[in-house]
Amino acid sequence: MIPPGTVITEGQTKLLVPESHSVNGPGKINAGSVFFNEQMAFNRDVSIMLLKALKRPSMTVADAMTATGSRAVRIANEVPGTEVVANDYDANAIPYIEANIELNSLSNVRANHANMHVLFADESFDYVDLDPFGSPSLFIQSAIRGTRKKGILAVTATDTAPLAGAQAPKCRRRYQCEPIRGYMCHEGGLRILLCTIAREMGKFDMGMRPILSFSADHYYRAFVQIESGTAACDRMLDQLGYMRYDMDTLEREAVREYDSEHRLGPFWLGPLFDKELLKEMSPEGTARERKCTKTLDIWRNEIDSVPFVYDMSELSSFTKLSPPNLDLLIERMNELGPTSKTHFSPTSFVTELPLKDVLAVYREIGHETPPPVKRD
Ligand SMILES: C[S@@+](CC[C@H](N)C(=O)[O-])C[C@H]1O[C@@H](n2cnc3c(N)ncnc32)[C@H](O)[C@@H]1O
Repeated sequence: MIPPGTVITEGQTKLLVPESHSVNGPGKINAGSVFFNEQMAFNRDVSIMLLKALKRPSMTVADAMTATGSRAVRIANEVPGTEVVANDYDANAIPYIEANIELNSLSNVRANHANMHVLFADESFDYVDLDPFGSPSLFIQSAIRGTRKKGILAVTATDTAPLAGAQAPKCRRRYQCEPIRGYMCHEGGLRILLCTIAREMGKFDMGMRPILSFSADHYYRAFVQIESGTAACDRMLDQLGYMRYDMDTLEREAVREYDSEHRLGPFWLGPLFDKELLKEMSPEGTARERKCTKTLDIWRNEIDSVPFVYDMSELSSFTKLSPPNLDLLIERMNELGPTSKTHFSPTSFVTELPLKDVLAVYREIGHETPPPVKRD
């Protein structure tokens, strides 16, 4: 029986979704209804762009928490060579998945009604996607079990409040990490997510390499490529570390070993992107083509060799200078050392320069904050 709903088009795919669904923000969970959030179209677009860019002739895919089947059916329809399992443990989701397979006349995707822990105890796949409500922490180990050697695991986390430090006790409980507050909070949250995936990989004696990890809207997302062998595992663990951040002086430092000064973390301190793969990703035909084009451009140009961004608001309140034009600031900093915009915030930048040089350039081109206007 076809379930009630409305048909929309996302990317190249028609989707039957519940009439009442989320359009913006984190998305609401309505009791008895199957979840769908239009804003996550960009998140699904990124999966499509990345899987197409891999150019693998064939690939098995498990969308472990598919709800209406939106991502699974889009992958089956838009990425050639895929064989997809669209899984959800909610019985109400299955008619939507089946209707969406039918709507797009697909024979390379099947609906599966199982708890993902059970699915991944029995079967493994070249690409596994994890998109839970809130925290993925309880699901990562099973998802790794379900990802083949050299496979790709994609994880979404929407529990940004704990990861970004607004709910630090929850972060400690779920992730056993000390989060960072302030302008680096989203980068910190993403790097805690990556550290958590790495520590779970370690339990299997396996390594991983992030190929695309980012913060967007209300969530963090990580795509990691599994690397087998203990050497890869040790290499991965070497990229975890701690941080010191002094809000009074703006001094920050990331180190590999924990000590009484470097108490934030642990974080993933290695790269977030595979720049070669980013070059291959095309926004053509995606649902949010303009956003994909713009974001790809930022990711491709973002310096990925050093962790933790600077923000102009932080530098302005420290130097008591108005924020300069960001493009000009980056241009001047680049004369001294690599500096770029970052996707984490439109007012932040990432640089290989030490703090003293950052402050010197900022002061050089900054101008005095105009005195406050006197009101009678
Ligand atoms: C945020 S929704 C997924 C949204 C979907 N990926 C999309 O892009 O529209 C989370 C889904 O996970 C399912 N879920 C939660 N725990 C699960 C489990 N242990 N096994 C399988 N599905 C699960 C829920 O039923 C829900 O449909």
